[in-house]
Amino acid sequence: MIKQYDQSFVLETAHTSYIFRLLPTKQLEHLYYGKKLTVSSSKDIEPLIEQHAFAPGNTNIYDEEHPEYSLEDMRLEAGMIGKGDIRVPFVEIIHADGSSTNDFLYHDAKINTSHTPIKSLPYALNNKEELEVTLVDETYAVTLKLYYNVYYEYDIITRRAVVINNNKDDIRLNRLMSTQLDFLNHNFVFTTFNGSWTNEMNRHDHAVESGLYINASFTGGSSSRANPFVMLSDKHTTEDEGDVYGLNLIYSGNHYEAVEVGSYGKMRFVSGINPQNFSFLLEEGEIFESPEAVMSFSAHGFNDMSMHMHSFINDCIVRGTWQHQERPVLLNSWEANYFKINEQKLIKQAKAAKKAGIELFVMDDGWFGKRDNDQSSLGDWQYDPKKLPHGLKHLVDKINAIGLDFGIWVEPEMVNVDSDLYRNHPNWTIEIPGCNQSEGRHQRILDLCNPEVVDYLTDVMSELFSSANIKYVKWDMNRTFSDIYSPYLPANRQQEVFHRYIIGLYNLLNHLTHSFPDILFEGCASGGNRFDLGMLCFMPQIWASDNTDAICRYKIQNSYSYGYPLSAISNHVSSTPNHQTLRTTSLDTRYNVACFGILGYETNLADLSNEALEEIAKQIAHYKAHRKIFQFGTFYRVNQELHNWCVVSDDQEEAVGMILQELVLPNHQFHQFIARGLKKDIHYHFFNEEKQYNVKLFGDLINTASPVHIKQDSLAHQVVAKFVKMPGEVEDMHTTGSILMHGVCLKQAFSANGYNEQVRYFQDFASRLYFIEKESEKQ
Ligand code: GLA
Repeated sequence: MIKQYDQSFVLETAHTSYIFRLLPTKQLEHLYYGKKLTVSSSKDIEPLIEQHAFAPGNTNIYDEEHPEYSLEDMRLEAGMIGKGDIRVPFVEIIHADGSSTNDFLYHDAKINTSHTPIKSLPYALNNKEELEVTLVDETYAVTLKLYYNVYYEYDIITRRAVVINNNKDDIRLNRLMSTQLDFLNHNFVFTTFNGSWTNEMNRHDHAVESGLYINASFTGGSSSRANPFVMLSDKHTTEDEGDVYGLNLIYSGNHYEAVEVGSYGKMRFVSGINPQNFSFLLEEGEIFESPEAVMSFSAHGFNDMSMHMHSFINDCIVRGTWQHQERPVLLNSWEANYFKINEQKLIKQAKAAKKAGIELFVMDDGWFGKRDNDQSSLGDWQYDPKKLPHGLKHLVDKINAIGLDFGIWVEPEMVNVDSDLYRNHPNWTIEIPGCNQSEGRHQRILDLCNPEVVDYLTDVMSELFSSANIKYVKWDMNRTFSDIYSPYLPANRQQEVFHRYIIGLYNLLNHLTHSFPDILFEGCASGGNRFDLGMLCFMPQIWASDNTDAICRYKIQNSYSYGYPLSAISNHVSSTPNHQTLRTTSLDTRYNVACFGILGYETNLADLSNEALEEIAKQIAHYKAHRKIFQFGTFYRVNQELHNWCVVSDDQEEAVGMILQELVLPNHQFHQFIARGLKKDIHYHFFNEEKQYNVKLFGDLINTASPVHIKQDSLAHQVVAKFVKMPGEVEDMHTTGSILMHGVCLKQAFSANGYNEQVRYFQDFASRLYFIEKESEKQ
């Protein structure tokens, strides 16, 4: 709901309010964003207004008529340079006379009944209420528009800005943020998610004390270095209690989120396009649109904020055929084969996949040009006849005949110098003509600032996607930018390259996703290098990390879940020892972590033992039975000594939970599983799946029970292992939701004193899934 009371604007969602007003000096003063307040008149708002009687010493007052106002000490909706505010600015423009002072003052405001389209960038869908505020800098004839979209039931407010140059002279836009929040105090923790390749999304909590802290990407993508999703919370906020703001950007390029504590203890947060190496030239009549920032507040802890983000992303960011549709279980060929693929091998693996219950077979890198390693062929999207002697369509038909859908890997934004594309179009890449270029993974980036390149890629990809029955595309992007230069752009527009590239990419994706509405696109950028809301507008799921180690993966997925729904997070069960860490984990644990989200497998199923294949077939059948919950259920992180997740169906009648232990702590065997999201007063059945354990897992402890001595790893040990299985513990209880949410005392874990079916075999990296089902009325 958007209301205007005289000079004040009140934006309301189901549980939050956002309030600002027009200052007597005509800037917009931020008054409040947080828990919902009851407001029914402008009088009600008065207590929220800072009562300035005089400006602080050694500051500049805005004008003589208002000696009480120094913009350095005001909470503003958009901070500017040159009129007293010296904090991190919202907008920075250099005018034709060389000045960088901007004095944007209120001109008018109107309420729109839908989202004003953003022409150059994707934006959130389904909005019904928008506030458009126009500010004008009269001296330079430049307009700044601020847009606020209110998503009432999601507790989401989005903000963005547009700059319009009405001057006959050019202006240079050096910065335009998407949102700004000025708080009265700085008692916050600023949480960022940082990392690198195979080590994405490490959560960092920074207590805000003083100065300027910046979370930003300068890789050309949203990056694994610093995800654009950040949080501001109270020091005492937990998963279930306390204040938290979740903040994100619908953008896939260089981003910037900053918090600054000003001289008077107030705190400013801004986010938008990274201003580093950004400068846009606007000629007369030209406009610049910032990406849309997404903001959510909850007074009930991180889980509640995440839930709002998840529903909003599922309903208003992800779009198209696959938006709410259950996603297939896939087998990806990469870790099983790397570049060494051929028709015969793939068909063999696909047959094993079909037996295990896989639905979609994905041929990853290596299938095109002469792609035997990463040094050649990106750009030449024709199949390699040595690997696929009967062609792509023939392979796809064969895979379809086995009973599987077919998916393909592409990396369209890239080119190897050793490729026909580069040889034919050496001026189509981001590089400085005539200079030595730096490369990543032996590849260069195609210049998507150039519309001819975007058109070419649209044609080539369209041809590929229609050349066979392709149901899925993994869209990869494997390097960061260097030698930032577009041969297509003039010298005075080279600081536009990063942003224009993203606009070009969105145009390309827009064409392709509209032409192929039924293809399921999965985003990937060496794993999580472009895990962001911009990509999710085109691709409903993203490969979360090239690290498939279950223990690393738990942390990576856990961190993504703060800002992104399970339906967006794609995870694979891979080989052990793991290819990235050489860590050995059980098949159980690999599945138990991967099933929270979009499940896939990435291992040579044709090489596995019958026992392992049967186990995988059971996992997949289990996943299919609970797929809706794993992909679209309400997800909870539970704070306790063990890692603990719980995901619940929409009607709260069913849930699946998990506990995961990193390292065994001797004599600490009484663990709990804690549920979340159930109805307190109804009865549920709580149970696990009964497992049988291989006796070899107990090593030479077998001799404590065996009548004859068995040498560890001997033939006799193998034979016994074949016939004797160790029974796993059974959990089976009937109780109320409130007790399950308090915590279930589980069977005692193994600890040196013997083993029977009452004992939980729970070694390093062990995990368990638990099932919770509503009791039928009769019981
Ligand atoms: C990237 C991806 C991997 C795989 C390889 C293929 O690293 O993240 O999943 O597709 O490229 O080259």
